[in-house]
Amino acid sequence: MAIMIKTPQEIEKMRRSGQVVREVLEHVRKFVKPGASTQDLEDAAAEKMKELGAKPAFKGYRGYPCVLCTSVNDEVVHGIPSTKRMLKDGDIVSIDTGVIIDGFYGDSATTIAVGSKVPAKTRKLLEVTEASLESGIQAIRPGATLGDVGAAVQEVVEAGGFSVVRDFVGHGIGTRLHEDPQVPNYGQRGQGQKLREGMVIAIEPMVNAGRPDVQVLSDGWTAVTQDGSLSAHFEHTVAVTAEGAEILTQ
Ligand code: MF3
Ligand code: CO
Repeated sequence: MAIMIKTPQEIEKMRRSGQVVREVLEHVRKFVKPGASTQDLEDAAAEKMKELGAKPAFKGYRGYPCVLCTSVNDEVVHGIPSTKRMLKDGDIVSIDTGVIIDGFYGDSATTIAVGSKVPAKTRKLLEVTEASLESGIQAIRPGATLGDVGAAVQEVVEAGGFSVVRDFVGHGIGTRLHEDPQVPNYGQRGQGQKLREGMVIAIEPMVNAGRPDVQVLSDGWTAVTQDGSLSAHFEHTVAVTAEGAEILTQ
């Protein structure tokens, strides 16, 4: 599939879906506390989407059952909300969600420290992962390559002493959740496809405290680190503009 170039009118629609994704995530954030279940987060998100007139992008996608992915501690991505999964003080939880408004998708994720007992090294994992996303976004401009973006992410992660997950990547986004191109969180400068004004991509570094290897559990969704180390995930939907980049989900 060719990479879709969005018109200014289409980008305007994606601004709206991006804003709603952000509103949903900021709403869910208020429910993240010790003793809450990941289902409580799901319920809060589903209600907010209804209120805002947004259609969930994940529910039903390849049979995925929920509007959120909630990935706790060594879960990398695609954790399924459950009444049985209680958050406790010292956990980290990644919350990933997407919506469809007027036919256009938005997709974003953040990782949150639960309570007050999260150790400094874990807080650093969150900070470095978010900084790697920002570094990737900084590299975006017409003429830059996907290798430039991946390298910018990877360098920040590895300088922080952490590792980049290879088995999952970011993606183009628009009238579908996943469009071309794939957007790896690693790479070499000057390599890969060139970005053009009007492209919209979701960049989503998944960063492990230990080894980069992951495995998918028997539920068919939940990806965990193979070595049991903690993992963080931040994601933005970003448009390539004439000047550089516009984050649609902030
Ligand atoms: N942000 C993830 C992605 O873009 C979430 C998809 S989860 C699914 O791939 F449930 F929709 F599959
Ligand atoms: Co995504």
